[in-house]
Amino acid sequence: MSLLVKNAEIVTADQRYKADIWCAGETITAIGPNLPAPAGAEVIDATGKYVFPGFIDPHVHIYLPFMGTFAKDTYPTASRAALVGGTTSLIEMVCPARSDDPVESYELWKSKAAGQSACDYAFHFGVSRFNEKTPDELKKIVADGTASFKVFLAYKGTFNLDDTELYRTLELAKRWGIIVTAHCENAEMVSQLQQKLIAEGKTGTEWHEPSRPPVVEAEGVHHLATFAGLTGAHVYVVHTSCCDALREAQAAHNRGVRMWIESVIPHFLFDRSYAEKPNFEGAKYVMSPPLREKRHQEQLWNALQTGFISTVATDHAPFDFKGQKEMGRNDFTKIPNGIPSIEDRVNLLYTYGVCKGRIDLHRFVDAASTQAARIFGLFPRKGTIQLGSDADLVVYDPAYRGNISAKTQQMNVDYSAFEGWPLAGRPSAVTVRGKIQVRDGKFVGDQKLGQMLKREPTHG
Ligand code: URP
Ligand code: ZN
Ligand code: ZN
Repeated sequence: MSLLVKNAEIVTADQRYKADIWCAGETITAIGPNLPAPAGAEVIDATGKYVFPGFIDPHVHIYLPFMGTFAKDTYPTASRAALVGGTTSLIEMVCPARSDDPVESYELWKSKAAGQSACDYAFHFGVSRFNEKTPDELKKIVADGTASFKVFLAYKGTFNLDDTELYRTLELAKRWGIIVTAHCENAEMVSQLQQKLIAEGKTGTEWHEPSRPPVVEAEGVHHLATFAGLTGAHVYVVHTSCCDALREAQAAHNRGVRMWIESVIPHFLFDRSYAEKPNFEGAKYVMSPPLREKRHQEQLWNALQTGFISTVATDHAPFDFKGQKEMGRNDFTKIPNGIPSIEDRVNLLYTYGVCKGRIDLHRFVDAASTQAARIFGLFPRKGTIQLGSDADLVVYDPAYRGNISAKTQQMNVDYSAFEGWPLAGRPSAVTVRGKIQVRDGKFVGDQKLGQMLKREPTHG
């Protein structure tokens, strides 16, 4: 397998230049002008296109038992969707319930991916309880190459840790050099507010946001930051939605806490009015933390532009409107939370970030690829275009014009939250380790090509 990309305008997090890229096998083996095309090599002419490093989505749910149902995608469907949209590596959250055995759960999640993924993948391991057996269990998981944890401060009774467990998890993570990703909403506050609203007859989708207001998220970030400060652990706040949470993160940085911030594409593009749509349409936009008042979006874009928000992920969590979201028709607390977007993240960030002048091309690549690689121990194998890196390349056509539609999407879910949204660019070719997996919006590759990416702890 050999691949030559001719006439590329290469754009990485910090460079932009014209060259050809030669991949003799799975990695990039030469970059330079006028490279010859040996007989038998695949050749892509990238004239007029950008060539970006493969994009990385560091927060994805594929196998997810949650809120009385299961997320709809499988590895075949989610990995194809990822690739068509330019994402060549994803990191899935392993989310065992408190009562589940951690190592068995880890093996179960791995079995859903093994031999079924078209893109490369890794895992964050969800620590949903901590007892005397936990360090030995986690040691096995880390030794297998899963060098990041996930904790939930939200979802009372299923995923959330108490403070003793949180402290012990972070203390262990610090000792082992493991970064801990965290869903920061105070579970008890959410539970109390949900009960109050439902008792008042406030059952519609418009009450989801008031049941978890910005202060609940800000408290979560503050709580995590305090524990991280005491233990010295490195932490990563997932799906940050509001300026109140950003302020807490800024204060934590000022105190020297090592905290990275992720936001997800729905929070940049939707405000809470989407979750207030009539006739239960709002259910398509129920996720947690919830969509916020419009004023928060401006702050998220500003924080992304400065790099305070390191990464843009999806929190892809696909539940059908029919039969799944409908479980909460008479009670918003029963709507499975999640907005699917693994297929659309890169194109949306390009169209509504770069083309609207909110971020430049380098920040785009950095936030959607390079930072995830750096933070989660994949750099420079992933996240850049340089000699020796995996030949994960996105040949991107800025002249493409089209619209998002559930009718044409690869994601296995019956709606698109972005139905009809115009796009001003899309990948015209996507490669994974030198193999062409996508051409012009179509998956044309090897469904079983994806490998699990084993990672070492890098946060010591
Ligand atoms: O609404 C969300 N975010 N659903 C997926 C589970 C989670 O909290 O990440
Ligand atoms: Zn979450
Ligand atoms: Zn999530």
